[in-house]
Amino acid sequence: MSKPIFVVVNAFSKQGISIINTLVAEGNYQIRATTTRPVSDTPAALKLKERGVEVVQVDYTKKSDFNKVFNGAKAAFLMTPAISYTDPDYYQKEIEYVKYQADAALEERLEHVIFSSVDTPVLTDAHRAEFKFDILSCRTTVQRYIESLPFKYVSTFNLAFFYSNQIEFIPLIRNEDGSAELALPLQPNDLLPYIDTYTATGPIVSEFLQHPYQYNRAVVPVVAEYLTGVQLAEIFQEVTGIKTSFRALDRQAYIEAGGLNGAPELELLGNRLFEIWDSTAKYGYYYKHRNTKLSNQINPKQLNWRQFLETTKWTGESYQEFREKNNY
Ligand SMILES: NC(=O)c1ccc[n+]([C@@H]2O[C@H](COP(=O)([O-])OP(=O)(O)OC[C@H]3O[C@@H](n4cnc5c(N)ncnc54)[C@H](OP(=O)(O)O)[C@@H]3O)[C@@H](O)[C@H]2O)c1
Repeated sequence: MSKPIFVVVNAFSKQGISIINTLVAEGNYQIRATTTRPVSDTPAALKLKERGVEVVQVDYTKKSDFNKVFNGAKAAFLMTPAISYTDPDYYQKEIEYVKYQADAALEERLEHVIFSSVDTPVLTDAHRAEFKFDILSCRTTVQRYIESLPFKYVSTFNLAFFYSNQIEFIPLIRNEDGSAELALPLQPNDLLPYIDTYTATGPIVSEFLQHPYQYNRAVVPVVAEYLTGVQLAEIFQEVTGIKTSFRALDRQAYIEAGGLNGAPELELLGNRLFEIWDSTAKYGYYYKHRNTKLSNQINPKQLNWRQFLETTKWTGESYQEFREKNNY
């Protein structure tokens, strides 16, 4: 008998890579996965096809593309498409495009949808006045929309900050004396949750698929540990042997460090990203009632920062080199 089809939206996202790796290894589903790139010209898509994954090109602004992708499927992972953070209409577009995925999934009678969401600390008018560049709260809006639709099961996970942000967004600063600085738009002792997205996302999706009733209309925070910026730097030093300190960046320093002060749209991007860190450091990354220990119970193999550094062997090289080295 043929296996049920599970659709992974955004095959080549960090989350998609993890989900596909887990579900292909388990072998219980036929995987169909989306990309916006032409499949035959994309080597990564051809590699996935060799592993038995059906890869389909979609335009994420067209609901009908998702109807085609979801047709005949049993369940799907939905996520926000890669809308540019420089887009002035980011907020509205995120809601609109994720709704296309959800509406198409419902029309195609999927039984179970799994959504990658975030909690938002920007809840009141006072918060909105403090964080004028908030782009997190639209995700909660669309999560509630999905949960309100008459799917048999809706499950949601909220990933912590990715360890890979340190590699992708704020490269390690190397000083002339060989020492390094790990910089973040945080105060040195701000304590925030972290996760290795590349390996922790798949297992939580697998858990949801195995126990859909248990996680129906539930949110699971996916977090391996809480660390301060100082601890991130200390552990990096212990693992790599590179003398490393933590550098706290305020809004202006963060925008300048990322070269985001050159044009208004870049500054918009810088402000939006800065406020993700700033608002969560001040008002909490997860809502207080969340059980942030649960994902370590479900998957005790979630990597902590030390294990992430040991297994990926990242010692400060570029994101491109990191990806190539780890086959991501
Ligand atoms: N960073 C964090 O700490 C954090 C924490 C919690 C939640 N999140 C959420 O996570 C979401 C992003 O998820 P993600 O990081 O898993 O996505 P991602 O890795 O940034 O990938 C997003 C899309 O970018 C394209 N892409 C990826 N790698 C590429 C490459 N090498 N070359 C060209 N295109 C490439 C792919 O689309 P195509 O195949 O269509 O090109 C992919 O689906 C955001 O919505 C964010 O809010 C982030």
